[in-house]
Amino acid sequence: MKIVCIGGGPAGLYFALLMKKLGAHHDITVVERNKPYDTFGWGVVFSDQTMDHMRHWDAETAQEVQQAFKHWDDIELHFKGRVIRSGGHGFVGIGRKKMLNILQARCEVLGVKLLFEQDATSDLDFPDADLVIASDGVNSNVRNRCPDIFKPDIVTRPNRFIWLGTHKQYDAFTFLFEKTEHGWFQAHIYKFDGLTSTFIVECPEEVWLAHGLDQADQAESIAFCEKVFAGNLKGERLMTNARHLRGSAWLNFQRVKCEKWSHFNGKSHVVLMGDAVHTAHFAIGSGTKLALEDAIELVRQFKETGDKVAHIPQVLEQYQALRAIDVIRLQNAAWNAMEWFEVCGKRYCDQLAPEQFMYSMLTRSQRISHENLRLRDKQWLEGYERWFAGQAQAVPPMFTPYSLRGITLKNRVVVSPMAQYKCTDGRVGDYHLMHLGARAMGGASLVFAEMTCVSPEARITPGCPGLWNDEQTSGWARIVSWVHQETDAKMALQIGHAGPKGSTCAPWQGDGADQALPEANWPLLSASAQPYLQHGQVPRAMTRGDMDHVKDDFIQATHRANQAGFDWLELHCAHGYLLSSFISPLTNQRQDDYGGSLENRLRYPLEVFAAVRAAWPDHLPMSVRISAHDWVEGGITPMDATEVARAFKAAGADMIDCSSGQVSAQQKPIYGRMYQTPFADRIRQEVGIATLAVGAISEADHVNSIIAAGRADLCAVARPHLANPAWTMTEAARIGYTALQWPSPYASGQPQLEATFARERSLQSAGRGD
Ligand SMILES: Cc1cc2nc3c(=O)[nH]c(=O)nc-3n(C[C@H](O)[C@H](O)[C@H](O)COP(=O)(O)OP(=O)(O)OC[C@H]3O[C@@H](n4cnc5c(N)ncnc54)[C@H](O)[C@@H]3O)c2cc1C
Ligand SMILES: Cc1cc2nc3c(=O)[nH]c(=O)nc-3n(C[C@H](O)[C@H](O)[C@H](O)COP(=O)(O)O)c2cc1C
Repeated sequence: MKIVCIGGGPAGLYFALLMKKLGAHHDITVVERNKPYDTFGWGVVFSDQTMDHMRHWDAETAQEVQQAFKHWDDIELHFKGRVIRSGGHGFVGIGRKKMLNILQARCEVLGVKLLFEQDATSDLDFPDADLVIASDGVNSNVRNRCPDIFKPDIVTRPNRFIWLGTHKQYDAFTFLFEKTEHGWFQAHIYKFDGLTSTFIVECPEEVWLAHGLDQADQAESIAFCEKVFAGNLKGERLMTNARHLRGSAWLNFQRVKCEKWSHFNGKSHVVLMGDAVHTAHFAIGSGTKLALEDAIELVRQFKETGDKVAHIPQVLEQYQALRAIDVIRLQNAAWNAMEWFEVCGKRYCDQLAPEQFMYSMLTRSQRISHENLRLRDKQWLEGYERWFAGQAQAVPPMFTPYSLRGITLKNRVVVSPMAQYKCTDGRVGDYHLMHLGARAMGGASLVFAEMTCVSPEARITPGCPGLWNDEQTSGWARIVSWVHQETDAKMALQIGHAGPKGSTCAPWQGDGADQALPEANWPLLSASAQPYLQHGQVPRAMTRGDMDHVKDDFIQATHRANQAGFDWLELHCAHGYLLSSFISPLTNQRQDDYGGSLENRLRYPLEVFAAVRAAWPDHLPMSVRISAHDWVEGGITPMDATEVARAFKAAGADMIDCSSGQVSAQQKPIYGRMYQTPFADRIRQEVGIATLAVGAISEADHVNSIIAAGRADLCAVARPHLANPAWTMTEAARIGYTALQWPSPYASGQPQLEATFARERSLQSAGRGD
């Protein structure tokens, strides 16, 4: 085969040498526009796993690379005058120049032709090549020439960064944060040879502009960075080696991904590789790893399928199918890490104490969890747990108490409200005593009853509970008093009005959720006369008279909730129900004072909140559940949600329960573990109000990470509590936390379960070899 690699970066060179090894008869040329041994950039880091792959595929290269490596374990944070260090993170770093020199030399030994100082204008420059590898980096000409084929999706991120170096010695992956009069700057620093460290400086665009850095040349930019980080540099200089970049050397990161990775240009097969097809932000430092692993996978496919010209189409198809999965996984993690650094100035630097800031930074990608940090550096984590708990004993953050107004919860786990549709005429009975009682005995600190409706017309289904008469009130009082008598859990009630989503069947009765009742429907109310489902019942747009009437229903239900003895009240303003229908622009088309701007749309929900808050005892907390993202273009965004939260905070809400969606049937949510937690985090930091995180929180490890990083104050767990009422007790045993008090009659089950999990943990650690 005749192969041309356009671009002699890690991807092109490594593919060329591995392919030549696979078959010495292949005619392989690497075309590189730079001079030999001439490159930009400082050091790159990658993981031990990539090294293992390299060892397997070409031991000679791996050995050379290994000899040039600097290995280090620690991460050190310099923040607000404090230095915090934790270990066990395991990085290896190498100079980019050194790495390319090794690859170039190895290519020459194997007989790969290297053509330097040749600028390829396109893949069509090489019509006699069977295969063209477009390894021409992030600004790939080959990719840009055929956007309709490769369908690149390129996002330019808002932060500015400059890639510098220094001879100051750093013995850990070091992060510096410095505040200037216009905002925060951060430096990411890692050593890559005996003398030099990479020193990347990053800041938001507005901070960069405010300092006039758009007008600064490279020398001025360096002088500026030296001044910002003078306290740490202590006279050491910063250096650039990107003199080939004209004008400002400050860049914006571009996240690249492509729908298609290869095509036939009429003469040759063309395939994208490395940064040309995908990029990973330096916050996760894996661009070189991805480039090398692309090269390995393509060669592996040739090895397994055959390395004749006829095999190329199949090989290229399999290459994309396999690599795309790994790439997406890494890009997702890199995205979280990148966003953390983009918003940290505004969201975390001013809000969090250095200890918690360190924890938040270490878990920024949401891939490193609490228990993972314990494996890396047990001592540091236990120190953090002591700091978080404010006591001499290390306690997992999930099991620290939490107080709001006059209520103290024993831990941070909440049973999320879950509709059961098992009432008759809104009355709760033995079913609910069983259901809620079992969960109250299961270790959670706060048990939410399902959405409870303020009038018969406020119900979602005929099976929903209500709180509009004495019989219903005493039904609830029986449950609450049983829970108070037999357990140390608190009871919360969520009050709501179904609005446009009322008068439907239980999910298992109709043809899916939210289907209208076949008969005996009741009339619906909403912000606007717009049905939730296309063929659903059309609600009536509320008049001012309706608003007064419904507000009064909420007030009466609040008095009854207090009579029933509930400890906590939540106003349901989420999921497309009545109050939510006012908040979202998708469901509120009103032309009066209750529609239009967000301020207007919030007017009625805030009026109800204020009335309910006034009716609810002062010493008891009130939360508000919102949909923090409609997941529909033109709907509520997480940014709007911070404004919604700010308004409820001003009205006296104690906590925002951050759910999302169910406002529009057109929603396209992106699910994943803890997928709504970023909304809770943002609201907590930017609005300064306590938050309740919910959604795909299914392990103690999730709860610990969320609470420890300060992303929320409490975690609500719904579906896992359907499978296991004693979810909290089970998770405590699973992570080896034995101080949780089980209900006395259940006590003999505790050591038994703890022993089972202890055995499992020791088998796992034996398997890992620790
Ligand atoms: C600030 C910063 C920090 C980074 N830190 C890390 C890190 O710590 N760890 C890590 O793994 N990765 C890091 N990266 C990413 C890493 O540099 C890239 O992901 C990696 O180099 C990609 O390899 P590549 O071969 O695909 O592309 P490149 O390394 O960009 O190579 C492309 C080559 O193609 C050549 N070329 C381009 N067009 C033509 C043409 N028309 N004709 C001929 N030649 C051409 C270029 O000169 C270049 O040599 C960082 C990137 C940046 C910007
Ligand atoms: C069966 C069921 C019923 C639910 N009923 C309610 C409800 O009454 N009120 C509410 O706000 N959310 C309700 N939800 C949403 C949950 O409280 C929770 O937000 C959601 O299930 C995500 O959490 P999870 O991933 O832990 O299940 C319900 C969820 C389920 C599974």
